[in-house]
Amino acid sequence: MIVYTSIKDIQSAIRQHRADGHSIGFVPTMGALHRGHISLLEQSIKENDINIVSIFINPIQFNNKQDLEKYPRTLEDDCKKLEEAGCSIVFAPSAGEMYPEEVKEHYDFGQLEKVMEGEHRSGHFNGVAVVVKRLFDICMPNKAYFGEKDFQQLAIIKALVEQENMPLEIIGCPIIREEDGLAMSSRNVRLSPEERSIAPEIFKSLNWIRQQAGERSIGEILILAEEKLNAMPGMKVEYICIADEDTLMPVQSWDEADNIRAFIALFMGDVRLIDNLKIK
Ligand code: PAJ
Repeated sequence: MIVYTSIKDIQSAIRQHRADGHSIGFVPTMGALHRGHISLLEQSIKENDINIVSIFINPIQFNNKQDLEKYPRTLEDDCKKLEEAGCSIVFAPSAGEMYPEEVKEHYDFGQLEKVMEGEHRSGHFNGVAVVVKRLFDICMPNKAYFGEKDFQQLAIIKALVEQENMPLEIIGCPIIREEDGLAMSSRNVRLSPEERSIAPEIFKSLNWIRQQAGERSIGEILILAEEKLNAMPGMKVEYICIADEDTLMPVQSWDEADNIRAFIALFMGDVRLIDNLKIK
């Protein structure tokens, strides 16, 4: 496994691989790697000759300075995990390497960026789109892998690739969970032991929503689920949304769309967690 920090160096290596006819799979990450990230790499390894993982804590997608400062940084450990899993190339650039000049790009994703994460984290998806576009240009992958954990991000990336006419395939991969149901996340290490013991309530709540679907109205379910989560010590719901999986628009009734998914974002102390589950 080779670790590159320079764009010029990784590009010349990738050009050589492409000239040799190797297919390239790519997994963008911000590090602090867990089994969720590794599952994306494993999928990539199944489908490609050369597998690249990027590790870059992208400052321009953080709308909260404290969240950026407290984001775990574990590059050495990450590289060990990647090597063990069979990664061929790691790209770990500095912020100066990725952003030598002020960022000017502005993307428009219409309704897709106006709901949920887009509504609550101003500028977040533009920052994600800018970095992912640059990473795609640098790594020139045939396929890139994203987790359904960030379901709205996956939809935004698919829209980006279509808008920009980029010649690659975006593959969505299932959410990997801890045994108690908590979705794996780099932010989970910031939970206190008490918060960590309550955090599985998020997945329980999503399952409760699925179980109640068709029995109660969506309006009633949203109120009850929010009340229940907010009653947990230290939990503060930011949003619960039941939406059309394809447009991400909230639905008012269960027969309004063929594919429906429930989404939750909440704070436990100052740690923000998100999760989602397919309902229909
Ligand atoms: P990060 O949060 O590090 O996540 C990297 C990838 O891992 C994303 O595609 C995310 O959806 C996926 N992932 C995270 N937790 C997962 C889990 N429990 N199961 C399955 N997949 C999981 O998402 C980002 O970084 C950044 O926004 C990035 C795309 C790298 C752009 O900066």
